[in-house]
Amino acid sequence: MKNVLVIGSTGQIGSELTMKLRKVYHQGTIVAGYIPGAEPKGELLESGPSEIVNVTSAHTIAEAVDKYDIDTIYNLAALLSATAERKPLMAWDIQMNGLLNILEIAREKHCAVFTPSSIGSFGPDTPRDNTPQDTIQRPTSMYGVTKVATELLSDYYYHKYGVDTRSVRFPGLISYTTLPGGGTTDYAVEIYYAAVKGETFICPIAEGTYMDMMYMPDALKAAVEIMEADPRYLHHRNSFNIASMSFDPEEVYEAIKKEIPGFKMKYQIDPVRQAIADSWPNRMDDTCARKEWGWNPSYNLKSMTRDMIKHLREKLGYSQESK
Ligand code: SER
Repeated sequence: MKNVLVIGSTGQIGSELTMKLRKVYHQGTIVAGYIPGAEPKGELLESGPSEIVNVTSAHTIAEAVDKYDIDTIYNLAALLSATAERKPLMAWDIQMNGLLNILEIAREKHCAVFTPSSIGSFGPDTPRDNTPQDTIQRPTSMYGVTKVATELLSDYYYHKYGVDTRSVRFPGLISYTTLPGGGTTDYAVEIYYAAVKGETFICPIAEGTYMDMMYMPDALKAAVEIMEADPRYLHHRNSFNIASMSFDPEEVYEAIKKEIPGFKMKYQIDPVRQAIADSWPNRMDDTCARKEWGWNPSYNLKSMTRDMIKHLREKLGYSQESK
């Protein structure tokens, strides 16, 4: 039985991961941690308990852990890359001081901890193609600095104190449920909304800019499976490269046009996001994740595109015929 605290439960990942965990661990308690102003609603609110948990105030974490006898913490509180460039001190506070609070509580109360890392943990000196699991990590964004530090601090707590920390380096995540916000890979979600609404998409990332991307069901699967993995086979912990697809704006545009032929896209490059994207890998090598815990994604660009369009049409109330 698992009692899990999801911190950041109403965000892009949290809103779907909390629901998935409630299905997987239905005999346990899955607590939706949120901050005021980002309250859970609907199914997320009604399907289990929720508590105010702010990573920057340790007592709110400790109280939730005690109250629900939590054994696993999913720490999803973070500012994404473009927002972190605008608010670097706040990003540091949430990502680093928040993590330290969580790790200290986990050490004391014997919790396992998952804190995602990202393609953003790499930088311009990293090999861009088939980026190895263990390689140069010298990111140039504040987001990346906090992600590398997250990996190191999480491994430190494992080696020094035996805290069961594990994580994955997420690619840009694509879903139809909760929008991301302030990320460099957000365009790959927004393009689907524009296509389904019949709008011309203004792309902030240049043609030829390749980044790893992943459909949310695969990302959720990874988040569950890494925490379930047999520790005897884990040579790495923080964090594993995971990959399923890599594309540039033209490739996702062409994939959408196969489903919605009239769709149009124009470019208007955002220099902040473009500089970040240029410093990230084109495609990660995820061999270690496949070998050490059986990582195996289900979606590629074609199957994701079909599923995204189908669900967005339902969500936004557009009929199949709207081309
Ligand atoms: N999706 C994130 C971002 O763009 C990368 O992990 O910031």
